[in-house]
Amino acid sequence: MTEAILLVGGKGTRLRPLTVNTPKPMVPAAGVPFLTHQLARARAAGVDHIVLATSYLAEVFEPYFGDGSSLGLSIEYVTEDEPLGTGGAIRNVASRLRSGPDEPVLIFNGDILTGLDIRALVDTHRSSGADVSLHLTRVDDPRAFGLVPTDPTGRVTAFLEKPQTPEEIVTDQINAGAYVFRRSVIDEIPAGRPVSVERETFPGLLARGAHLQGMVDSTYWLDLGTPQAFVRGSADLVLGRAPSPAVPGRCGDRLVLPTAQVAPDAKLTGGTVVGHGAVVGAGARIVGSTILADAVVEPGAVITDSLVGAGARIGARTVLSGAVVGDGARVGADNELREGVRVWCDALLPAASLRFSSDQ
Ligand code: GDD
Ligand code: MG
Repeated sequence: MTEAILLVGGKGTRLRPLTVNTPKPMVPAAGVPFLTHQLARARAAGVDHIVLATSYLAEVFEPYFGDGSSLGLSIEYVTEDEPLGTGGAIRNVASRLRSGPDEPVLIFNGDILTGLDIRALVDTHRSSGADVSLHLTRVDDPRAFGLVPTDPTGRVTAFLEKPQTPEEIVTDQINAGAYVFRRSVIDEIPAGRPVSVERETFPGLLARGAHLQGMVDSTYWLDLGTPQAFVRGSADLVLGRAPSPAVPGRCGDRLVLPTAQVAPDAKLTGGTVVGHGAVVGAGARIVGSTILADAVVEPGAVITDSLVGAGARIGARTVLSGAVVGDGARVGADNELREGVRVWCDALLPAASLRFSSDQ
């Protein structure tokens, strides 16, 4: 038996819903709530018991995933009264764990899409005899992450969360948000107060000579911290670049969910998803985008790398590129919305209100 803790709470700034009422772990990526991919990947790696550690909007998870049996899992839910931080959240669910003191427990940040070989991380943990093993990945700009330098054997030498000064940027290896803890290490985290595993637990363990082992794995990895990253991740799931057993359908250029209606001459490419009940009109071109349930894309719209929320409407010939349109918003015909724009849920944008290009 292998068990895992999935961290899906926090103050919610980076997890802020893309669409006002849905916490990000529940926003569909490739047609199913994002969390489903993490759960299904853990199951495929032999995990059978998962504790979901949450601190807000907890009531949305349990009605959807229930006891986990539809995914072949046993899922439990624990909600913090106040966010306890990553380490506090882990400690807070210790009583639900079934592993013995020396057995491995997996822990996952709930906002990561990755092709990590989970079994290989557990094997590394077992063979190295480490107290904690961490999945590490390399990124061009590590400043938004936890930096994790290692010695030539992969043993972790320091943990520097969100480095502030150039001198602190000592490596491009970062904490990828998946760990194996020896169960007894979890029990040693102080209970009943906020603890950051990154700022307190890992540096503390290192200071007292504990063995932290890094496993650098350069498989697919994406932090879904921004809506743009979320859209990218969804497209990569559809394209098969990000492996997940939970994609409902075959991987390819597009995923059209049952009851969606797509005009025969509309072009869907680059991992585009069209949700249940959504409508895509004649001549629309949609590339690498997520169109959520019951949204309407009118004829001739051109949508690239964008998210269109549930029940939103995109007018005829409107161009979206790198845009996020909230649930229920209406963007009239002949608009042009570009990189970074967010149209709030239920907002109304009249026809021909916004353009970037010159008049024609
Ligand atoms: N239950 C619970 N309670 N979960 C929490 C809490 C809390 O108080 N605080 C954070 N979490 C969960 C988040 O939901 C997320 O899934 C995970 O813990 C990490 O928190 P983030 O707030 O997303 O942290 P980050 O992205 O800035 O940094 C973390 O992830 C990076 C990789 O993406 C750190 O672990 C970095 O070291 C790491 O590089
Ligand atoms: Mg994060």
